[in-house]
Amino acid sequence: GVTPKIAPSMLSSDFANLASEAARMLNDGADWLHMDIMGRHFVPNLTIGVPVIQSLRKHTKAYLDCHLMVTNPLDYVEPLRKAGASGFTFHIETSKDNWPELVQRIKSGGMMPGVALRPGTPVEEIYPLVEAENPVELVLVMTVEPGFGGQKFMPEMMDKVRLLRQKYPSLNIEVDGGLGPSTIDTAASAGANCIVAGSSVFGAPEPAQVISLLRKSVEK
Ligand code: DX5
Ligand code: ZN
Repeated sequence: GVTPKIAPSMLSSDFANLASEAARMLNDGADWLHMDIMGRHFVPNLTIGVPVIQSLRKHTKAYLDCHLMVTNPLDYVEPLRKAGASGFTFHIETSKDNWPELVQRIKSGGMMPGVALRPGTPVEEIYPLVEAENPVELVLVMTVEPGFGGQKFMPEMMDKVRLLRQKYPSLNIEVDGGLGPSTIDTAASAGANCIVAGSSVFGAPEPAQVISLLRKSVEK
């Protein structure tokens, strides 16, 4: 079966205090730390890169759930492995031609391979990656257009989550964008088990309460 993974998005943290922000989230009950690696050719923003993952790894043993929003994810497999990434989730829109090689290299680097899809990408496009001989182990359904934290959750993306959960009972299904106390039940009942949450967790007076609420909803 699938287990809940609550993954605060460090994009909403105080980057000048990244190590203590990470420690605070883990202390508040986070399972994973979600790391948004963005390049301006894929999204209209520029965030963290490999050196930041490398620096953070020296301060924590936590699972670093890396979400690659770059046009050339293959170029980052080896650098991110060396830097200490745990999960490597690339976007299908960037990797239609070379995903088998990409997945194989992520796995042989000891990381967990995942694939993400933008809101406009049909879910059918990722079925071959889940059914491959060397499959992805996580599918990230974007519930906002990638690029920025603090956007509004798109409930219409739950059709994708429901279809995936029906087809693949033990797949890790992650949702990312606009998740918080008011949207978690929609996502959890559709079948998501990995929950990324940035502004709702970091903006809360008591992040531990939000993390625990997200977990309880997935466990229901
Ligand atoms: C958006 C990023 C998300 C973002 C989520 O492109 O992939 O991880 O940080 O932030 P919230 O939870 O604030 O929507
Ligand atoms: Zn993300």
